[in-house]
Amino acid sequence: MNSPDSGALGLIGNTPIIRLRKIVPDDAAEVWLKFEAGNPAGSYKDRVALSVLRNARNRGDISPGNTVVEYTGGSTGSSLAFVSAALGLKFVAVFSDAFSKSKQQTMEAFGAEVIVEKSHGEGITPALIQRMKDRAFSLSQNPDTYYADQFGSPDVILGYAPMGREIAEALGRNIDILCSSVGTGGAIMGTWQGLVDSGIKTDLVAFEPEQSPFLTTGKGGPHKVEGIGVGFEPPFLDRSVLSGVRTIDQDLGFAMCRRLAEQEGIFCGTSTGLNVVGAIELAKEMKPGNKVVTLACDSGLKYLDSQIYALNKTPH
Ligand SMILES: Cc1ncc(COP(=O)(O)O)c(C=O)c1O
Repeated sequence: MNSPDSGALGLIGNTPIIRLRKIVPDDAAEVWLKFEAGNPAGSYKDRVALSVLRNARNRGDISPGNTVVEYTGGSTGSSLAFVSAALGLKFVAVFSDAFSKSKQQTMEAFGAEVIVEKSHGEGITPALIQRMKDRAFSLSQNPDTYYADQFGSPDVILGYAPMGREIAEALGRNIDILCSSVGTGGAIMGTWQGLVDSGIKTDLVAFEPEQSPFLTTGKGGPHKVEGIGVGFEPPFLDRSVLSGVRTIDQDLGFAMCRRLAEQEGIFCGTSTGLNVVGAIELAKEMKPGNKVVTLACDSGLKYLDSQIYALNKTPH
């Protein structure tokens, strides 16, 4: 994948893993963050886009000049726009103004067409997600159009498995917990599969926003953490292998984003803030020397217009 011939696509994956040193108490377990913001379009969704579109091309399901369609909060969309551009495909995103404007601009920068469903100021709601889904599905019926299907394609899990193998290579066998918030559930399950492929068994803990506690209560709600808490059963999440699900207050996640930037120099998006709050909570329940791994899903650069980095700034 990393031959000079693969161009920008060769930059996907092989991201660093960083130990959080300043914001984790000394008497807690180690917390490690897989830094996926380092992918070219700024998130771990680059891995999904590459896997889905390359496998579709290899199967003969798409060819250059065809159109790819997906409904997206903008992370998968940015990655699909990037990989589509590199593979000579057109990309149409069904998006909403409930998500970061900068994600729309990123998709457009890669030449995508972006259709914006209005959220009417209600945030990310299950009804909005359903409207986006219906629109994308109807567009996918057009000729020479391929539905990327980030919520159903088996290529999603295949795309994330290398992330688990990279973590195993970097940290060795002694990983106690893999934990992460879930949207489709693809990242957590694919990464876990990669760890299993490397002979590593860890506990697996899923997080969701307290404001949209579908996994723990069966009912979603409006919230502001992009990419997760979708209000329906995450299609890739295998609950039978989960050790637990925890709800995390989104406001603690936003505050954690600012702490990560100011105290660790790690600039990430809102789901990462939630992941780190949850990972530290787990680490405090464990012993020093144990290892908790979580994911830095995407870059904070995508959220500069969302006020997360401006609200309640830590006083100096
Ligand atoms: C920023 C961000 N974080 C977390 C997730 C959740 O990842 P997954 O869908 O693999 O569960 C997504 C998915 O869109 C995302 O965009």
